[in-house]
Amino acid sequence: MKVMMIGSAALTTILATGVVSAEAPANPHAEEAKVIVQEFATTLQGELQGAMQAGGPTNAIAVCQERAPAIAAELSERTGWQVARTSLKPRNPNHVPDAWEEQVLVEFDARRAAGEDVQPMAFAEVVETPDGETFRFMKAIPTAEVCILCHGSDLTPELVEAIDERYPEDMARGYSLGDVRGAFSLSKPL
Ligand code: HEC
Repeated sequence: MKVMMIGSAALTTILATGVVSAEAPANPHAEEAKVIVQEFATTLQGELQGAMQAGGPTNAIAVCQERAPAIAAELSERTGWQVARTSLKPRNPNHVPDAWEEQVLVEFDARRAAGEDVQPMAFAEVVETPDGETFRFMKAIPTAEVCILCHGSDLTPELVEAIDERYPEDMARGYSLGDVRGAFSLSKPL
């Protein structure tokens, strides 16, 4: 209960600083971000599935490692948005959230605990930076059945070995179906 109250207070603070509702269809930046997120998610999921079918989950780890950052970089280049993924318990240390992302991720967990559907969960805000105003957008990523293989509590010894070898600081385990695994995080100078 205490956590929920802290969560609500944090949200109120964010709302007071001029939040743009991610659900509001009228906001063109949020709509643009959602389209990019959709492409990122679809491309990644396609490659993950292909890799799993071709060589099983151990093979798919290498694909995740190489392709996920490459897709993010390609999308960033093409769209002019900064496109990335983040998590409170990242596998890749490059995905450690910044202060703003961390606050939104904590809020996503609180929103889920309060019963909200994770699939459409998103948050957007215009923030001040030294370079001017930046539009920031985050979209929650739910843990699906297939994700449990590599992010659950009961990984095969073979997978543990393959993950530990590449990600000695891995924290992205112990997730259950429906948990917020992390989020897509996008930003663009206004
Ligand atoms: C075959 C194993 C495997 C499966 C299955 C898998 N992942 Fe991952 N996941 C990884 C690896 C490896 C990384 C690190 C990628 C990198 O270095 O960018 C990762 C990273 C992530 C990240 C970025 C944040 C972080 O922890 O670094 C998210 C978010 C994520 N996975 C979500 C999912 C979701 C959602 C699913 C199910 C749809 C899923 N993963 C399925 C292996 C897997």
